[in-house]
Amino acid sequence: MSTIQRSLAIIKPDAVAKGVMGQIITRIEQAGLKILAVRLIHMAHDEAAGFYAVHRERAFFASLCTFMTQGPCLTMVLEGENAIQRWRDLMGATDFRKAAPKTIRADFASSIEANAVHGSDSPESAAIEIPYFFSALEIHPR
Ligand code: CMP
Repeated sequence: MSTIQRSLAIIKPDAVAKGVMGQIITRIEQAGLKILAVRLIHMAHDEAAGFYAVHRERAFFASLCTFMTQGPCLTMVLEGENAIQRWRDLMGATDFRKAAPKTIRADFASSIEANAVHGSDSPESAAIEIPYFFSALEIHPR
């Protein structure tokens, strides 16, 4: 059974500042995931807080919102067979010290917060996260 999925992907401000956007996009394309939409944005605090609202009770929430607003990040919509898990496999574990070798976080993250990339964790999350940043007209299936 075909399980074509979409995931939101974010290249976070730390990775944009390091100049590794291109390397991360290359990994996405080499893995066979399609990029259907892309936009470089610089979030305001309220926009970051809205995006990470599920984490609002966590101790790291305020710091996370500050981090996500420290510079621009690249938001994308990815599509492919089992895209959510495949993007998570490319990213590696949230804590870069636990991320498998050759994953994006193992190679580019510098802390559990500055962990280079974000991906939706389920189809339900993707269905909320993708429209947070992209309208239907900005997503280009092919
Ligand atoms: P992300 O996958 O975008 O989801 C929530 C983010 O919170 C996470 O990546 C990290 O950037 C950040 N974060 C900061 N501290 C923690 C922590 N202790 N546990 C999980 N996520 C954290």
